[in-house]
Amino acid sequence: MTIRFNDETFRDDYTFFNSPEAIARFPFPFDRDDYMYSVNMEPHKTGPEGTPFNVRFDVDEHYVSEMRDREITLTEDPLRCQSLPHMELAGWDLLELIMRSKAEDYPELFELHCDGDRWHWINRPLGIDQRFTFGDATTLPYGPMEYITRQAQGDFAVLDQREDNLWMDAGMVTSQADWSLDFDIGMNFFEWHAPVPKAHEMGIFQRALKFLMQINQDNPARRLNWTMTVNPRLDTSPENYHKWGPEKRTITSENVGQKQYLRVELQTFWRLPRSNALAFPIRCYLINLEDLVSVPKWGRRLHRVLRDLPDELADYKGFAVNRPVIVDYLSQHDDGAATSAGI
Ligand code: HEM
Repeated sequence: MTIRFNDETFRDDYTFFNSPEAIARFPFPFDRDDYMYSVNMEPHKTGPEGTPFNVRFDVDEHYVSEMRDREITLTEDPLRCQSLPHMELAGWDLLELIMRSKAEDYPELFELHCDGDRWHWINRPLGIDQRFTFGDATTLPYGPMEYITRQAQGDFAVLDQREDNLWMDAGMVTSQADWSLDFDIGMNFFEWHAPVPKAHEMGIFQRALKFLMQINQDNPARRLNWTMTVNPRLDTSPENYHKWGPEKRTITSENVGQKQYLRVELQTFWRLPRSNALAFPIRCYLINLEDLVSVPKWGRRLHRVLRDLPDELADYKGFAVNRPVIVDYLSQHDDGAATSAGI
């Protein structure tokens, strides 16, 4: 398959755009007209062609520009990538998983040749040709996790599993929905989820943790999560809240269609073979309301979901201030027709 990579920005002049193909394959996350947290996990099996579920690590038209944006964020703030010393083996596991997956799923873009522990990696879109020794970090320009996640879209948390819990002991986090790796590093599953409303009382995190701890190498899993973001900004971190927080106040009924984005996270869960760590890639997809309502059933459904969403969730997700103007815009794209379950 041929991918034409966009030349675009996710900050300052925000030249990000979705092509018609990207709109058509957008992972719309709602399978009904209302929304509440749930343990919405399913096997990460090969999905239909032309969807982000078709391969293990989706590469799309935003790849090259997203990697450039990650580089800018890391230059400004190196703490967006951290790995505690005991996580290096998990870093190699992750590097292997991503390299093998990309080389098999996109052979025209990526190549991996292995001769014992002497590996040769070619990444054509980013112009990288690297020979290195698997397991020897001195043969790469960065540690293994940092090296490969500078070449893979989405954020990555790498969790150590011990004491019947998961611990956020490594990660590459530059496109997050308002949480901080530097704050969460070393925390366990319940600690880093502490700010989430309602889900603890609903028992969601106990059930989710049980599920995650049983994931094995042959059965990766996935779920979708979502929020709302003003402007196509990847780095909506607490560290840079002073940059993007005030942008929320720029939404008007005239510009809401262009400036307000639905942000969907395709989260996948992978057991890693040598370290027994769990890798958690969080792939972010952005679509503005104007593009979203070009698919009538999406516009209709998003209107109903956002209109009826409990206040605590709109507050937590950070768009309560703009909810009225968003719902008003979307209501013009809801003809009141009945919808059926499913996406
Ligand atoms: C939110 C990490 C797995 C449900 C979050 C947050 C983080 C996080 C950092 C933001 C918390 C904050 O406000 O500071 C992770 C990691 C996981 C994981 C590293 C993998 C081990 C799961 C699973 C579920 C889940 C399996 C299943 C239900 C949620 C929910 C939210 C959340 C409902 C609130 C999201 C929103 O409303 O936008 N998670 N999570 N998480 N997580 Fe997880």
